[in-house]
Order: sequence, then C-alpha cells, then structure tokens
Amino acid sequence: EKLEMFVDDLPHMPTIHGFHVINGILKPKSLKIGMFFKKWKFHRDLPATPVFAYGTSKRTATVPGPTIEAAYGVDTYVTWQNHLPSSHILPWDPTISPAIPKHGGIPTVVHLHGGINEPTSDGNADSWFTAGFNETGPKWTKTTTHYVNKQQPGNMWYHDHALGLTRVNLLAGLLGAYILRHRSIESPLRLPSGREFDRTLIVFDRGFRRDGSIYMNATGNNQQIHPQWQPEYFGDAIIVNGKAWPRLTVHRRKYRFRIINASNARFFRFFFSNGLHFIVVGTDSAYLAKPVRTKAITLAPSEIVDIVVDFSKSTTKTAILANNAPYPYPSGDPVTEENSKVMKFIINDESVYDASTIPNKLIQHPPADVSTSVRTRYIAMFEYEFNGEPTHLYINGLPYNAPVREFPKIGTSEVWEVINLTEDNHPLHIHLGLFKVLEQTALVEIDEFKKCMTKKLDAVKCQISKYARGNKTAVTAHEQGWKNVFKMMPGHVTKILVRFSYIHSNESYFFDATQKPGYVYHCHILDHEDNMMMRPFEMVK
Ligand code: C2O
Ligand code: CU
Repeated sequence: EKLEMFVDDLPHMPTIHGFHVINGILKPKSLKIGMFFKKWKFHRDLPATPVFAYGTSKRTATVPGPTIEAAYGVDTYVTWQNHLPSSHILPWDPTISPAIPKHGGIPTVVHLHGGINEPTSDGNADSWFTAGFNETGPKWTKTTTHYVNKQQPGNMWYHDHALGLTRVNLLAGLLGAYILRHRSIESPLRLPSGREFDRTLIVFDRGFRRDGSIYMNATGNNQQIHPQWQPEYFGDAIIVNGKAWPRLTVHRRKYRFRIINASNARFFRFFFSNGLHFIVVGTDSAYLAKPVRTKAITLAPSEIVDIVVDFSKSTTKTAILANNAPYPYPSGDPVTEENSKVMKFIINDESVYDASTIPNKLIQHPPADVSTSVRTRYIAMFEYEFNGEPTHLYINGLPYNAPVREFPKIGTSEVWEVINLTEDNHPLHIHLGLFKVLEQTALVEIDEFKKCMTKKLDAVKCQISKYARGNKTAVTAHEQGWKNVFKMMPGHVTKILVRFSYIHSNESYFFDATQKPGYVYHCHILDHEDNMMMRPFEMVK
C-alpha cells in the first residue's frame, strides 16, 4: 500500500557554524564531521531505513547532513571522517571502473559544490579515503579540507564525490547544505530571515522496499556491457529534508526557501497548486541582480534556487508544492501521482507582523562580457557507440582518466559551447568557475553532424557552425544570473561564458588554484557522472 502524504512535519537539519565568535569577532574554526552508518525514519509508516549520514556523532547524524553556516572571509576547516562499515548498503557496479580499495571499505571524498577552493580541498574523485584513512586514492593529499569562504555569499551543498560511487554514496545519504553569509551585504536587503522564516529545502527522490531499505535497481540496461548500471536512478517518493512529502504550517507572511535538488537524475518543475508565485532572489551560489517573479521553476539535479514566497497572497488555506517534470527529462514518462507532489504548506490564518521586504535590487555582480573571453572551447556530449551499441556517455569522446585537455588561465573568461547530441538534458557542472548562459541554439541536420563527430571527435573539424543555426530558446529570466550548473538541452548548443576568478571582486583567487589534482567538470546526473561523463581540467598562471 502507498505511503500517506503530508503526515510528517518538515524537519530542520542541525546547524553547524563554520566560525567562532570571540568577543564579538568572527574567528576561523576547525570542524570534525563524520560519516556514519545508522537508521533514518523517512516516513511515519515506513520502517527505519539503513543510511549513511553526516554528523558530528553517530547519534546526531542526519539525512541530509547538518547545514554548515559559514561567514564571509572566515576560514572553515573540516576534517571529514569516514566511519562507514566495510560493505555498502547499496549495490554498485564494478564494471564502470569505480574506486576500488585493495583492503575493502567504502571510498568517500567530500566536495563542496559551488565552493571556490584550492584543488586539494575540492574533493577530487580520486582523492578518496576509506574508514580511518586506512587507504587513500591516487590523488589524495590531506585529511583536513580548507574552505576559504572568500566568494560571493550564497548557497552551496556538500556531497560525496568518490570515483564511480557518487551515485550510491549520495543515494545512501551523504549530502548536506552549506550557506555562506555576508552580513554587511545581506542584512540591508531585509529578506525573510531567522530559523523560522529562512529555510533550506533539500529535495530528492527515493524508492523504498517494504522493510524500509532503499531500493535501487541493479540489473543493468545492457547485460553485456553494464551488468548493473542503469542510466538514471528514479524513486517514487519525494523527500524534503529527510521526510517523504512533509508538511509545514506557515503564517500569512513572506518566507525564504533555499531549494537544492539533490536527486541523482530527477529534474523538478516546481509550481504551487494554488498559483502562488515564486520570487527568485538567487540561483546556485549567487544572488540575482534583482528579484524575478515566476510561477514555475525547473531545477535539474544539483541546481539551487533561492526564493521568497509570500503566503499573505494565498487565496487558499493550503498550498501544495507540486512537480510536473517528465523523467528522464525532458522526453521521459510524465510524473506519477506520487512524484507530482513535493510538500504541503498549511497556511495559518492568524495575521503576523512581517518586517521583511523584497528589495528592487539585490546584489550587483559583473555582467557577462563576451569580449573578455580569451578563447572558445567545444564540449561535446554524446553516447559513444561501440559495435553499434551505445556504451558510454562521454564528454568529447574521452573517458575521465584520459589526459587533461583544458588548461584555463587564472583570472580569465572563456566561452564554452556545449554540444548535446543525446536525447537527454544533461546538467553541466563546472567546479571553481561561475558562468552565465548566453544562448541555446538548436542543431540542424544533427545526424550528419553526429556521424562526423563519431569519427573525428572534433566539433571544429566537423564544422559545428554549419549545424548550429536552428531555433534559439531564450534563457529564462531567473536563469540569467551567475550559475555553476545548467541544463544542456538535447540537440542544442548551449553557449556559456565561464569566469575563472571571483565575481564580486577583481581578485583572482586567495589560494593556489594551479596545484594538483586540479578540478573537474561533469554532468550532474550522478549515474552519468559515475559512468565517465566527467573530465578533469587544470588551472594555469
Ligand atoms: Cu555537485 Cu562535481 O559536483
Ligand atoms: Cu548526463
């Protein structure tokens, strides 16, 4: 039988501050955060689920993990500690070449998604470690990661990034939110604030067995090539802050919600059942220049949207946050009854004083200036065929471990033309860099172009400009800000301007970005990322 919706209250995840306050002055802080095997109640009527959870102790560990709140300009050091058992709670596929420790245990490594940090603190997929740092991956360097917190204020999330195991480690629960605040810039905006009115919503889908355990289909879509790997994980239940379809009672006033899509492969297209608007104030890790009102928001895996909702405008006593994104996106199945609902807001009638505002202007970052671009790169996503069978979703026809091809210069900007020759939308994420989406253009005579790409693997030699001249799709108003992940439309070239320096100052970086192991860019559908849709890049001076 089906689980009843809206019976659990929306939880607050525990908060951990990434700074000390000593005599009113903010000082750097060192944290120890562990990964634990425990059980977690996802729903009132579902037996507790075995999970992997982040926390300062096994008892306090949660799914999602604690929300880390950092302060601008104050360093946060985190020693991530693996306390996981020797075997995984989920099946993982040894044939897609994941990290495999010689002495057993579960490889883990933490990436701060959206963070602008040194390579050795960036959570490289090969910098993994097992319990007690017993064994470490080929690119592991140190036990304590350093988050400098010198970037623009905004929303990030931390999650596992171990090679070939990212999808199972996140499915198991290894993810959490990280908020960087800049008081003197943000308080004058007077957006809804405080624990009650400024909430983080971490949304993902999961499938469960009757006994409460997480269900993952481990029968490969192609027995010969992938005995276990499935191209996309989807679950029936929609989980917000660790509860399936929770409810939240709100007052008739403004609330701020920082929504993170932490699903493996599910896109959401959010809207309110009663027509309430979203007022978007930020996307991914950056504020927009000014708020944008919209009735629908499409959020790919790992995209973040920062919104204000004014419940005083509600004409009804309840509002369902709903979803109608097909899966896989955009041309898969329509949502089921279960996937079509996310959570319920119960609007309390009592009127309350609301001092918060929605200002006309938010934070001004530099515009995307294409004339500053020092070069253009072509990034092609396509299914590499072997003996006529699609095998790997490669980027530029190269596996992850092929030599580095991209060496951007610190402090410069580049145009990346991302060519998606597949049927699916792929959310491209670039570590370190922030980018603006400039243009989305349909490819004409795509089969001819594909044929050439399969042979030559080179967009310029295959005369990309001859094919990139179809219809243009406008970039949605609220997606015109600085982003770190964006949806690459199938059959299109998406042109982005990537900036390899801070967006809020002329400083390049407050650390050495040229160290090994460098950075990565990848598709953020975790099942694709794990199966080689990821490439390294290294910064140079
Ligand atoms: Cu959210 Cu490379 O990751
Ligand atoms: Cu993908």
